[in-house]
Amino acid sequence: MSYQTIIFTVDGPVAVLTFNRPEKLNALNPEMFAEVRDVLNRVAAAPRIRVLILTGQGRAFIAGADIRVFLDLDPLSARRFAAEAHEAAFQIQEMDIPVIAAVNGFALGGGCEMAMACDIIYASEEARFGQPEINLGIIPAFGGTQRLARLVGKMAAKELILTGRIINAAEARAMGLVAQVFPAPAFMEEVRKIAMNLADKGRVALRAAKQSVDRGFDMDLRNGCSVEIANFALCFASPDAKEGAAAFLEKRPPRFSS
Ligand code: COA
Repeated sequence: MSYQTIIFTVDGPVAVLTFNRPEKLNALNPEMFAEVRDVLNRVAAAPRIRVLILTGQGRAFIAGADIRVFLDLDPLSARRFAAEAHEAAFQIQEMDIPVIAAVNGFALGGGCEMAMACDIIYASEEARFGQPEINLGIIPAFGGTQRLARLVGKMAAKELILTGRIINAAEARAMGLVAQVFPAPAFMEEVRKIAMNLADKGRVALRAAKQSVDRGFDMDLRNGCSVEIANFALCFASPDAKEGAAAFLEKRPPRFSS
């Protein structure tokens, strides 16, 4: 499939999906959704890809859903639109490999929500985050009311969602939304370095770690800890667990094979 609204590249174990409608600040339209879903399916079926980075071309990561689409929605089509967006967000969240949001510019509305479905958000100093849907007479529909509250707390999430206020990278970091902020010129280089480092880790352990946090987060402590126990046990189904311990004791770097 050749893509019109995204660019997909693979460099060794690291794949990069770049949203590419810069003239519309990468606003998400149905075509872009379909292309993103196609890439996610391809990445899921490609064992040599060990990390996926999402980023945007130009001034935006994604400046939200394409507002033009809203003109034609009625309650039923709006429901379908939101349900499909949620499926895409869950597909990102549930990928077996780490997915990094490299937020280069505006991550507003659906853009902020796509980033929040990723495992880690890194931001360039130029990044801006927000859920401005309230200014359009609507509410977030790609999981924003749920993921933002879980990530930054209920009060901080409501303040952002009710006011529609746009925040910079430093404030997003202070809230715990962003892991690290990098100067714009070196931004993608820094993120790629982190991705390459992640690619050297064991695939089984990475999956077990992200799944334990994600699934456990929505559970009570005892059930969440049960997920951790089961996933810890699962790590020993891979040779990586023995290799990691042996490499440490032999004072050499590990060679993970999963
Ligand atoms: N949907 C559709 N088009 C969008 C868009 C969106 N979410 N965000 C930006 N665009 C388009 C603009 O309409 C403009 O297109 P045009 O040149 O054909 O008029 C182009 O992208 C550039 O945007 P512009 O508004 O001129 O840039 P700016 O630097 O003045 O402002 C923003 C940047 C991000 C503050 C502003 O574009 C904005 O508020 N976008 C909407 C954000 C939003 O509400 N997102 C949630 C949607 S649910």
